[in-house]
Amino acid sequence: MRRLAIYPGSFDPPTLGHLDVVERASRLFDDLIVAIGVNSSKKPLLSSEQRTEALIASTSHLPNVTVQTFNGLLVKYALEQGASSIVRGLRATADFEYEFQMAMVNRRLCEQVDTVFLMTKWEHSYLSSSIVREVAVLGGDYSDMVHPSVRAIIARALNGNDRT
Ligand code: PNS
Repeated sequence: MRRLAIYPGSFDPPTLGHLDVVERASRLFDDLIVAIGVNSSKKPLLSSEQRTEALIASTSHLPNVTVQTFNGLLVKYALEQGASSIVRGLRATADFEYEFQMAMVNRRLCEQVDTVFLMTKWEHSYLSSSIVREVAVLGGDYSDMVHPSVRAIIARALNGNDRT
């Protein structure tokens, strides 16, 4: 049986840290779905279509990785897809409390799906989507924080000619 994992997140935008976690997870599992959680109460920088485009472009070298969007409960979506694991990236201590809570809630909701934490490369461990958004919106250079194709999509979104 092929082992499928889900890597969920907002990915607004996907950073090099996210991409590093995707690469590591794609080596650990037979198949990986990068799943963009669509939260209608948030006003994102990138639309779900732009985030999908950004993730497809930056993971095209990984044949066992696909990109989807999901609504509602993560564990429900994971079960529907037939996934046995949820992958989350873990940076320094700041992430732990939130990730611990989310993993425990997800386990309480569904025993069959385990959460697996992967550490990104040291050089990406300071990165977050919110930092990239802030630097981008304020006109700073974020080219070493995201994949080149993602940079182009952010630039387009900020120019206002592709924002939904
Ligand atoms: O990148 P993020 O913003 O930390 O990702 C958060 C995400 C999308 C993984 C999380 O909000 C989520 O799982 N949303 C789905 C709703 C859900 O299942 N909630 C219960 C678990 S806390």
